[in-house]
Amino acid sequence: MPSYIVVGGQWGDEGKGSIIAYLAIHDKPEVIARGGVGTNAGHSVFINGKKYAVRQLPTGFMNENARLLVGAGVLVDPEVFFHELEHLKDFNVEGRVGLDYRCTVIEPGHKELDRSNGYLHGKIGTTGSGCGPANADRALRKAKQVKDLKELEPYLTDVAQEVNDALDEGKLVLVEGTQGFGLSLYYGSYPYVTSKDTSASAMASDVGIGPTRVDDVIVVFKSFPTRVGAGPFPTEMSEEEADRMDLVEYGTVTGRRRRVGWFDFEFARYSARINGATMLAITMLDKYDKEAFGVTEFDKLPKKAKDFIAEIEEKVGVPVGLIKTGPELEHIIDLRENI
Ligand code: GTP
Ligand code: IMP
Ligand code: MG
Repeated sequence: MPSYIVVGGQWGDEGKGSIIAYLAIHDKPEVIARGGVGTNAGHSVFINGKKYAVRQLPTGFMNENARLLVGAGVLVDPEVFFHELEHLKDFNVEGRVGLDYRCTVIEPGHKELDRSNGYLHGKIGTTGSGCGPANADRALRKAKQVKDLKELEPYLTDVAQEVNDALDEGKLVLVEGTQGFGLSLYYGSYPYVTSKDTSASAMASDVGIGPTRVDDVIVVFKSFPTRVGAGPFPTEMSEEEADRMDLVEYGTVTGRRRRVGWFDFEFARYSARINGATMLAITMLDKYDKEAFGVTEFDKLPKKAKDFIAEIEEKVGVPVGLIKTGPELEHIIDLRENI
C-alpha cells in the first residue's frame, strides 16, 4: 500500500502514537506526514523503556530514514516546535523536518485566550494550547502563516508537493492523524469537540493528497475508550469503577484525568464507516484481558481476548489488522498479511 492514513476512532488518545511508531519502524515509510489540528494532540511512545511525547512533529520520528512533514492544515506553535527538535535530537530529526509554508501559526495571544476564556476553558474544557483561537483567526483570514516567521525559514517546504512527488515515485507515505472521530467539529458531539474535522478525509486534505490517492485507512480503537474534557460519553463508567479495574490514565498535554468507558460497538461502526476504514487497529488489549499482556501471536491469545477481537470484527464490519498487547513497541500482533 503506497499511502495509508492512521486515525483515531474514538475521542483521541487511542494509542495512535504506538501504532504509528510500529509502522514507522516495521514498514519503513520514506515519508511520514502529520495531519490533524495542532499542538492540542499528544502522542506518547515508549522506546527502549524511555517515554517520548510529541505534540507537533510526526510520531514516526524514530524511523531515522524518513522525511518528517507537517501538513498545511496543521497549526504550528514555534515554541513547541523548537522544544521538540531539542527533545528528539537523539533521533537526528533536525535535518529531516519540513513544515508546510502555509501552516497557521499559534501565537501567545491564542494560548492566553484558550486558557482564560470561560466558554472555551470552562464549558468545553479545551486543552489550552491555543488551537481553537488560531483556527478562528485563520477562518477570519487574519492569522499568520509559518512563512511569515524568520526563525522557521530553514524548515519551510511545500508538503503537498513533497507527498505527491513521493507517491508518483512509488514511495510509501504514512499519514498520521491526531485527535479522534468523536472530537470532529462536524461529526463529533458538538459543541464539545475540537476546532476542525478529524476524520480520515480531513487528514488527507491536511497533508495535501486527494481522496483518490489514499490506499488504506487504519482506524485505531482502544479496548476501553477514554475522553478528556466535557461532552457526552454514553458508555462512561464511574471513577470508582475505573480505579477498581486499573484503567486510570492522565492526558499527555494537560495532565487531566481521562474519563473511561466501555467499548461502544455501535459508535465504532459509525466511526469506521465515516472514516472509510479498510482495517482496524485495537490497542490496550491487555487492559481488557490481563493474560493477553505482551502476546505477539494471535493464536497465543487467551480465549476471552480472541472473542473480543472477533466481536469487534463482526459488529464493526472491518477486519482487525493490528493488536497492541502492551506499551512497548514489540508488544504487537501484526495480522495484516491475512487481510
Ligand atoms: P494517541 O493520542 O492516540 O497517540 O494516544 P496517546 O499516545 O496520547 O495515548 P497516551 O498518552 O495514553 O499514551 C499511550 C501510552 O500507552 C503509551 O505510553 C503507549 O506506550 C501505551 N500503550 C499503547 N498501546 C498499549 C497497549 O496495548 N497496552 C498498554 N498497556 N499500553 C499501551
Ligand atoms: P481543543 O482541541 O484544545 O480546542 O479542545 C477541545 C476538546 O477536544 C476538549 O475536550 C479536549 O480535551 C479535546 N481534545 C483535543 N485534542 C485532543 C487529543 O489529542 N486527545 C484527546 N482530547 C483532545
Ligand atoms: Mg493523545
